[in-house]
Amino acid sequence: MEYLIDEGCKRRVIIHCCTVRAVAEEMVDHIDGVNRELVIAGALLHDIGRSVDHSIMHAYIGSRIVEDLGLAPELVDIVRKHTGAGLDEADVEELRLPAGDYMPRTLEEKIVAHADNLVSDNRVVTHEHSVSKLVSKGAFRGAERIELLHMELSNLYGRDLDVIPELIGEYPKLKCVAGLVDG
Ligand SMILES: [Fe+2]
Repeated sequence: MEYLIDEGCKRRVIIHCCTVRAVAEEMVDHIDGVNRELVIAGALLHDIGRSVDHSIMHAYIGSRIVEDLGLAPELVDIVRKHTGAGLDEADVEELRLPAGDYMPRTLEEKIVAHADNLVSDNRVVTHEHSVSKLVSKGAFRGAERIELLHMELSNLYGRDLDVIPELIGEYPKLKCVAGLVDG
């Protein structure tokens, strides 16, 4: 969390990241073979690029910040690939993003991306929230990818991930915001 503060992330972004961490941890607790520490670090850092930019570029910018901080390449990838259920080559071209792989492929990358899909600002929501946001923008392929990722991770989790808001609460108790200053 210190990295988020040092990079100048607003309190609201930090609380969002801590909420995504809570959702990601709930998934990791029930999915085998996941690097827990990597998921937690990735969830906390995924929006670090919002210290600079709130557009779709924030994922790429965030990945560069994480790289410049000398953190693990796996974390750089998690941050770059976290938007929606990833972006394919056509999206990358259309959005004029720097060339690169923006599709989550490892379990850790998928869990962080989808935990973010289950959080709106500081509220834990069902996946329908992110799907309908993309549908309203006409991003049908992106919406479909979220549905598929939701099914894939729900299978591994052992039940539909849409139970998470009910399980941990819409506003779960956060582990990482104690002492966070306003701003
Ligand atoms: Fe983000």
